[in-house]
Amino acid sequence: MERTESRLPNREIGQSNGIVYRDGAVEERPRTFKGEPIIRVEALTKEYRMGSNVVRALRGVDLEVQAGEFAAVMGPSGSGKSTFMNLVGCLDRPNGGQYWLDGLLVSSLDRDELAAIRNRKIGFIFQGFNLLARASALGNVMLPMLYAGLNARDRRERGLQALEAVGLADRAQHKPSELSGGQQQRVAIARSLVNDPAIILADEPTGNLDSRTSVEVMAVLQGLNDQGITIILVTHEADIASYCGRNVTFKDGKVVRDTLLPQPRRAAEVLLTMPVIGEAEEVVA
Ligand SMILES: Nc1ncnc2c1ncn2[C@@H]1O[C@H](COP(=O)(O)OP(=O)(O)OP(=O)(O)O)[C@@H](O)[C@H]1O
Ligand SMILES: [Mg+2]
Repeated sequence: MERTESRLPNREIGQSNGIVYRDGAVEERPRTFKGEPIIRVEALTKEYRMGSNVVRALRGVDLEVQAGEFAAVMGPSGSGKSTFMNLVGCLDRPNGGQYWLDGLLVSSLDRDELAAIRNRKIGFIFQGFNLLARASALGNVMLPMLYAGLNARDRRERGLQALEAVGLADRAQHKPSELSGGQQQRVAIARSLVNDPAIILADEPTGNLDSRTSVEVMAVLQGLNDQGITIILVTHEADIASYCGRNVTFKDGKVVRDTLLPQPRRAAEVLLTMPVIGEAEEVVA
């Protein structure tokens, strides 16, 4: 199944012009990668206190993500993936270690400052879509712009553009219940895009979707990554991770493996080889 070659990179802090593998080979980074990592964490720790019990969810994570990368975060349940995403997404603060987002040391900011950075730089996509049931697709997509200081007409226009970017311009007035799972996730992707984020964080975005719909979502995300958006995506499925140029594996709150896939699979090409279930049903009926 695995069509990509994978080798373990030997990443060192400060090493930015090319990736040196443990076997000594050097791979130049694609031209879109800037020298400065967009995300850099050092010795990141996070503990949750439950009464007298302390859960050490992250036990010292060091990681750099370059602008333009598409990284999958993998690992067993409870290994700290979502905790890591919450910290990277400025939704929560670490107990220890440091985090630079686009060169800015954010691990020392307070909650209001974190919220401001989050709204400007980061879009989120979740497994359960997290759409408002009573709002239309367009209404959902417009929500993150409420605090962006735009007037209603501009919000509407941008919302429609975002829906168009995910191929859903013709579903703008549909409620989530009137959309398929894949369409709902595309509305959520459109919502993550409206504030023009540099980074999209997706926590198991295909976890509730069937295999073809999952690949459709990966095709949308690969298209956004092609336009330069950095994406970090949590997944339990090796198949989904094979669409990402880098696979980072967590275990017990630490990164235990970091693999580059120089030629990740292209979802748009794989889709051509997959049956369309809706069409098959029509033929039967
Ligand atoms: N809010 C919380 N309060 C207390 N403990 C928590 C909290 N969130 C996570 N944990 C604990 O921290 C550890 C890491 O959890 P996390 O949600 O990051 O795992 P995960 O890798 O995302 O797992 P999954 O694949 O099941 O989503 C787990 O032991 C979990 O029980
Ligand atoms: Mg999780």
